[in-house]
This record gives sequence, C-alpha cells and structure tokens, in this order.
Amino acid sequence: MRKGNVGRALLGGKRAIPKYAWVLVVFAGLFLFGEPILYKILLLKQRDLSELELPTPFLMDKMASKPFLLTTPSMHEAIASKIVHFDEISIKSVNKTVFTTRLEQISNSKMPHYGVAPMLDVCMHPNGTLVVVGTSQEEMEQSVEAIGEEMVREWHDTYNCIWGCKGIQYVDNIPHDAVWIDGETTHIIPYVNNVFHHFAERIWPHLTTAIPLDQLPKNHTTRYYVNDMQTWLEGAHQSMNHNTMMYQLYTLGLLSPQVQFLQHADHETRLLCFEHLKPACASCGRMNTKLGSNIYVPALLRYRDATFSFFGIQEPQVVRPPTKLRVTYYGRGDTYRRRTINAFEVMHHLQKSWVQPPFHVTFVDAMLASGEYNQSLPEVVSLMSQTDILITTHGANTWASIFMPKHAAVIEIYGPCGPSTWIDVMVEALMLKHKTEENPWDFRVPSLFAGNTTECESADHTPDFTIDITKLDEIIHSLALPKGVGDNFPLHWVYDWTSSHSHKVPNFKE
Ligand SMILES: *[C@@H]1O[C@H](CO)[C@@H](O)[C@H](O)[C@H]1NC(C)=O
Ligand SMILES: *[C@@H]1O[C@H](CO)[C@@H](O)[C@H](O)[C@H]1NC(C)=O
Ligand SMILES: *[C@@H]1O[C@H](CO)[C@@H](O)[C@H](O)[C@H]1NC(C)=O
Ligand SMILES: *[C@@H]1O[C@H](CO)[C@@H](O)[C@H](O)[C@H]1NC(C)=O
Ligand SMILES: *[C@@H]1O[C@H](CO)[C@@H](O)[C@H](O)[C@H]1NC(C)=O
Repeated sequence: MRKGNVGRALLGGKRAIPKYAWVLVVFAGLFLFGEPILYKILLLKQRDLSELELPTPFLMDKMASKPFLLTTPSMHEAIASKIVHFDEISIKSVNKTVFTTRLEQISNSKMPHYGVAPMLDVCMHPNGTLVVVGTSQEEMEQSVEAIGEEMVREWHDTYNCIWGCKGIQYVDNIPHDAVWIDGETTHIIPYVNNVFHHFAERIWPHLTTAIPLDQLPKNHTTRYYVNDMQTWLEGAHQSMNHNTMMYQLYTLGLLSPQVQFLQHADHETRLLCFEHLKPACASCGRMNTKLGSNIYVPALLRYRDATFSFFGIQEPQVVRPPTKLRVTYYGRGDTYRRRTINAFEVMHHLQKSWVQPPFHVTFVDAMLASGEYNQSLPEVVSLMSQTDILITTHGANTWASIFMPKHAAVIEIYGPCGPSTWIDVMVEALMLKHKTEENPWDFRVPSLFAGNTTECESADHTPDFTIDITKLDEIIHSLALPKGVGDNFPLHWVYDWTSSHSHKVPNFKE
C-alpha cells in the first residue's frame, strides 16, 4: 500500500451516516422484509449496527460449543507497571563535555538487518521532532548515506517526510534542563489503525533482531519511547486497533528480562535526550526475510510462546476426532471495503451442510456485531488458539494466525483485487496449511463505502464480493490431503461421523 493510499484509507473509514437512520432502516426492514434482506443491510452497515442492540432474529444460532474467550488482563492492566516516567530514570545533571549527535559505527555484520543504525547523543522534542545536536545537516546526511540505502530511506520516510512526519531540527547545544536517558532506547512511531502493518513494520524488525531471552543478562532493560503514547493509551479504551497495537508492543517487551515504556506528561516541554536511540522504522523491515528462517522462525515462536505464557494458554493443537474441527469464519462485515456480502449464507452452509466432517463454527462478524467479541488482544489470541481452520477475507486480522495451533489451516480469500498474502512467515513457522492460488470469490458488489465501484481502483477503492460456496467447499475438502507428520486433518475425513454419534454417545439426544 502506498503512502497516499494509507492516508486515504484512514480518512475513508469514517463516512458519516446518522446512526438513527440505520435504526429506522433496520426496524422498518425487519417489519417489511424479514431476515434475508436485513442480512444484506446489516452487512452493508455493520460498523454502525454493532453499536445497537440487535433484534433477536439477527443473532446467530447459538454455537454448539463456543470458544472460551479471554478478556483479561486489559491492555492497561498489563502495561501499567511497565510505564516509567522520564524523571524516574533520567540522569539529572548532564555533564558531557562533548555532546555530538552521530550514528553508531557498527560493522556490517552487527548492523540490524533492516539497515538502520542507532543514533548516539540525540534528542527529541516531546512532540516527536528529532533534534540533532552539534552536527550540521550536511554532516548528518553524509553519515546517513554512508550507512546505506535503507538508512537513507528511513531517514526520509520516518523523520523528514512531508506527510505525517515530525521533522528534524539542528541545534548547537542542548539546554540545561534537558532530560537525559542513558542506555539503549528504541523509538516507536505506531502504525495507526492497521494491526498487520503495525506488526509487520513496527514489531517485526525488533522481534527478528532481538537477542533470545536466555542469552540476555538478567538485569537487561529494554526501553521503548512510543511517540504520543498517551494518546494511544487513551485510544485503546475504545479502539481495538490501538489496544492491539499497544499490546503487540507490550508482548514484544516480554522478550526482554525487563522492559520500560517511557512516558512524559502531556505538557512536557523539556528536550528529551538519549545516549543511544534506535530510530523508528516507518517502512523498513516489513516482514523482511533476509535474516533467514533459522532466525525469524524461532523469533516468531518466541513471541508466540511469550504471549501464550502471559495469558496462561498452553500450546494449542488441532483437535482429533471425535472432537469436531473448530472453524472460525470472518467476512469483514465490520470494515468498509473488501467485505464478503454473502457471509451469513457461507456461515449457515458451514454450520449446517458439513457433516463429514462436521464443524463447530464461530462467526466473527456476528460476534462483533453483538459485542460478544471485541477483538481485544486477549480475545484474539484465545480465539485463534482454538481455531483449527480460519476462513477469512484477506486483511489485517490475519496477523493473528501466529496464535493458531501448529499444523492448523488458513483459507485466505483475496477477492477480485486480491493483495497477496502476508502470512508466509507464519505459515512457515507453524507449518500451517495455506494455499495462495485459490480464491473462491464469485461476483463483485459495488461498495458505497469504498467508492461505489466494481473495479480495483486503489487499495481503498475496491468492491465487495460474494464467495462461491462450491469452490470454498473444494478448498476445505483439499485439507483432507495429508501434509507431513502432525497433520490431524485427514483423520477428520476418514472418521465415520455418522456412526460415531450412536456408538459414543448412545444416550445423548440432539
Ligand atoms: C563537569 O565535569 C567536569 C569534569 O569531567 C568537571 O570539571 C566540571 O566541574 C563538571 N561540571 C558540572 C557542572 O558538574
Ligand atoms: C515541536 O516542538 C518544537 C519546540 O517547541 C518546535 O520547534 C517544533 O516546530 C514542533 N514540531 C512540530 C511538528 O510541531
Ligand atoms: C548487570 O549485571 C552485571 C553483572 O551481573 C554488571 O556487570 C552490569 O553492570 C549490570 N548492568 C546494569 C545495566 O545494571
Ligand atoms: C465488548 O464491548 C461492549 C461495549 O463496550 C461491552 O458491552 C462488551 O461487554 C464487550 N465484550 C467483551 C467480550 O468484552
Ligand atoms: C453507484 O453506481 C451506480 C452504477 O454506476 C449508480 O447507478 C449509482 O447511482 C451509484 N450510487 C451512488 C450512491 O453513487
């Protein structure tokens, strides 16, 4: 996604239609047309409807067995004890005879793979403007170039760009009241409103270059300075994007013996100076596989293990018969583009027509609409760890496939404008069953919220679509083909589900 598209995507998400209008439509529609038409309306405007109390006919049949969803600890509860005010750790009187901002000279082999060298003795205004001290712009840009192409790109994309950047100032000296933080700090500029981008571009570079916990000294502290953290923390009460974003960072911190998230007061005016600052990456490192799978696969698994262990979740497994396969289906009904319009039909089909093997289906769209599920990180992690088959329209939510059981399956539906998958690294780490060539979308449906188009005009001007249920069934059936040791899916196809009911549960009446 290019920068301009990102900007428009963010703006495009908020087209205001008065909420009461939808209340009237729903109730008038319910009265006049009944369920089928309303399902369509509901899917067209689920984002607003999710805030209403839905009339009973909308609620899905209660699932025979529901996943157990964790809702605690909240992101705020988790992170609270790790938040440290600058004043608690700053060294009061900076007495450095030489204070000159420079880039750390590290050998190529020690250079983080995303190509961005740490800065030494560098400051920042609390509003995020970087302050280079005692080094001219010319000198600074020369040393940036000397590091390499990726450093040059980051320097421009992250700190010097026109759209959304905070800019850089060059000064000769720092003021006496500057706050001084020694040791290593990592600067994070969150990727707002897209949890996959946030994971791929903000978490991934640090995750894949993190030293394994057991190789770090016990007193090692990792410090993060998150731009505008106060705002993200406040936003995290309502916005599950912000919630996940901050939680992704918190769980990254679990890979260090000690972690601190640096915070300053809203009205802070002093300059914040760092002995050693890893610059933020706006576009570097996105799921970069340069380091090789022998590095990034264990790194991903460490992140997954640390998250599971934090939430008290044991290593999950794909169920075996006679336990039914757990299918989680998400049609993106709560988003504004790339939505599955016949999601309810697909859902009913999965639940009713599949008998060999049968499924327990969790329909994310309905759970989101009813408020049973809000996509906070504990909910996402616990749901994914109880999902054997994830059927989902391509989108940011797929980042969470890293919390599925090993050897689970992901059926990712790209639709007509299909961006390619981002989960190759998860597929590799967890040995997931996942194919990218199948794409059972059927016909395009113009989406009023994404430009009323049936063309693939841009990332945010894309049509909605329907799913071809026959093709979807074929893809699901292909899971019966064995894929290596540990693949439990074939067992579900060879097991006789009809007779098992009468034999195994003779007194049970459904
Ligand atoms: C700063 O350190 C130098 C020696 O390192 C010392 O002579 C000087 O008095 C110190 N200044 C302050 C303000 O502490
Ligand atoms: C940040 O604050 C500094 C100091 O007050 C100011 O010079 C600079 O223009 C501000 N930057 C932005 C992006 O507002
Ligand atoms: C950590 O502990 C080691 C020895 O156990 C010590 O040498 C080192 O200075 C400590 N580092 C910090 C940052 O406290
Ligand atoms: C989801 O959010 C709604 C509205 O804030 C709340 O009533 C509901 O309890 C939440 N559900 C979960 C599972 O946390
Ligand atoms: C959407 O596009 C169709 C076909 O081009 C057109 O008839 C319709 O008026 C458009 N609707 C809106 C709200 O622009």
